[in-house]
Amino acid sequence: MSTLKKILNNKPIGFFDSGVGGLSVYSKFRSIVPNENTLYFGDLKHLPYGSKSKEELVGFAREILDFFKSKEVKAVVIACNTSSAQAYDVIKDEYKFKIYPIIQSCSRVIASLGAEKIGVFATAATVASGAYTKELHKYNPLLEVKEIACKSWVDIVEGLREPGDEVKTHIEEMLKFRPDKIILGCTHYPYLMNQLRLYAPEDLFIDPAEIFVNFIKDDLASLELLNTNNVPGAEEIFVSANPESFVKHSKIFYDVKSLPEVIALNF
Ligand code: DGL
Repeated sequence: MSTLKKILNNKPIGFFDSGVGGLSVYSKFRSIVPNENTLYFGDLKHLPYGSKSKEELVGFAREILDFFKSKEVKAVVIACNTSSAQAYDVIKDEYKFKIYPIIQSCSRVIASLGAEKIGVFATAATVASGAYTKELHKYNPLLEVKEIACKSWVDIVEGLREPGDEVKTHIEEMLKFRPDKIILGCTHYPYLMNQLRLYAPEDLFIDPAEIFVNFIKDDLASLELLNTNNVPGAEEIFVSANPESFVKHSKIFYDVKSLPEVIALNF
């Protein structure tokens, strides 16, 4: 491998989400591909993304991708379903580095799991886009898909709201559809597994994180972009606001060791 290629492959991969949710993907990535250098950006200033407009979500994504560009990343992972559903199609050709959106990257594998009925729990903006149904139908047009918007779940995970009956209510509604599998179509939702498993067996749920990470790993390998240095990758974590809250609510998925640096976003 040429020295120039080695220098490129040593560059970091940027991950972003509205808050701690994307850490459910990021932590899997760090354990499956441990020698990559990584950056994580939690956009707590604009949390929750699920109630924002397409225009707003495109603006947030652009500002974060511009920040990653200034850090000379080799790729960016949209560890956020809402941003993948609403912003990816607009910004996908605006950058030279590879961009991996969660919904579009995982749907082929999920559509081929053999399920006939798939449920999706996601944010209001993701459900409004119909992105899961569209992407799954590309690979299996016969699949029956039911999407339910879970408006308060992200706020519960981020500690902005006390949990009430929201989890039970949405699961009961979904179970009437008799799904073979239910996609946790928001990276925050795996944080609620302790509550979800009270109402349905854990293996009914698909957390797309592992499918996503394996997709990214295989794609980076096929592009010869994997870091071949045999040392643990470095990391830096950034937020646009509330670093203490980010550390406090990250615990289930990732041990954030020090207070993240705050990067001001203008949008
Ligand atoms: N975790 C994100 C997602 O996967 C965004 C949740 C939100 O901020 O509403 O959709």
